[in-house]
Amino acid sequence: MQSSGFGKSLETAWQRRARLRERTDAYRLLNGAASGTPGLIVDAFAASLVVYAYDKETAERYGDFAAALARITGAQGIALKDRSAKDEAGREEGRILFGSVPETAVVREGPLLFQVHPRHPRNVGLFLDTRMLRELLTETCGDHDVLNLFSYSCSLGVASARQNLGAVVNVDVSARYLGWGKDNLALNGLAPDKSKFVRMDSGRYLDWAARKGMEYDVIILDPPSFSRSQAGTFTFANDYWNLLEKCARLLRPRGRLFALTNFGGIAPERFRGNLEATLERSGRKHAAIRRLDLPEDFDGAGESEPAEGGRGSRPPAVEGTLLAFAATLV
Ligand SMILES: C[S@@+](CC[C@H](N)C(=O)[O-])C[C@H]1O[C@@H](n2cnc3c(N)ncnc32)[C@H](O)[C@@H]1O
Repeated sequence: MQSSGFGKSLETAWQRRARLRERTDAYRLLNGAASGTPGLIVDAFAASLVVYAYDKETAERYGDFAAALARITGAQGIALKDRSAKDEAGREEGRILFGSVPETAVVREGPLLFQVHPRHPRNVGLFLDTRMLRELLTETCGDHDVLNLFSYSCSLGVASARQNLGAVVNVDVSARYLGWGKDNLALNGLAPDKSKFVRMDSGRYLDWAARKGMEYDVIILDPPSFSRSQAGTFTFANDYWNLLEKCARLLRPRGRLFALTNFGGIAPERFRGNLEATLERSGRKHAAIRRLDLPEDFDGAGESEPAEGGRGSRPPAVEGTLLAFAATLV
């Protein structure tokens, strides 16, 4: 594509997101092929743009795309993250393409605020593909006990805590990410006593909770496709359904289970089928299962074919477009 083609795709994307920008300053501006820019994903985080380049020829293909991005969006800085190689060893270090990009910034998403790290080589700290779930969770009110597994910076836990009098438990193996979660909770002025931050392997937490007879009204399972920690290796293929079964067993009647993955190797219909089978295996009956939409700024990615890049954090071969399902028990 010539640079003028890029300019047109960018103009279209920028205009299409005008309404969305009233609600949030953290959104996906260009979503690779789905937005007419194959190999290039651009996320906006307040005054900064983060560009994920999925092939080495991006610069040649799109010309001076950074200048076009700066001109049209008015961004103060643009950071580039190389995603052309499967793992970090084969990737170039991130660099600044334009202006200056702060180490940390605060973004607004509807009523919520999140701290992000736009220069971080892997993840900025807020996954944009789960915005619809955060919106849904901010409506969680009353007295709901929520378990947020693989919580990362706890954006889903913070959304769940917003108008909820119940307890929200965030579980992650990383103390650093849980610390980030605590900062996010404080940033939103939410009382610290109702949110817990547990540094533990999610599988172990589920076993512990079962032994203690704990129960939850909402459980969120949103693991990475692959991870290695002191507790061992997690892979979607080996571990996901086992964990989901354990989650289902801990839900109260009429409880809600949010099952998410960015693993690129499973079709939506198969995921739904496995979810139903897993609920059955756990002895739980569901009243409803529904798929959650991707946010509008993902431009319909993954509806017909797998989109490249996923969350911009893992090699495209492993990481695909988000699949998110909500199951409500009877
Ligand atoms: C893909 S993110 C999860 C995204 C998160 N649900 C969100 O909404 O931002 C990966 C997170 O899983 C955590 N993690 C990886 N393996 C884990 C394990 N076995 N148990 C608990 N957390 C784990 C990592 O530390 C990281 O914070």
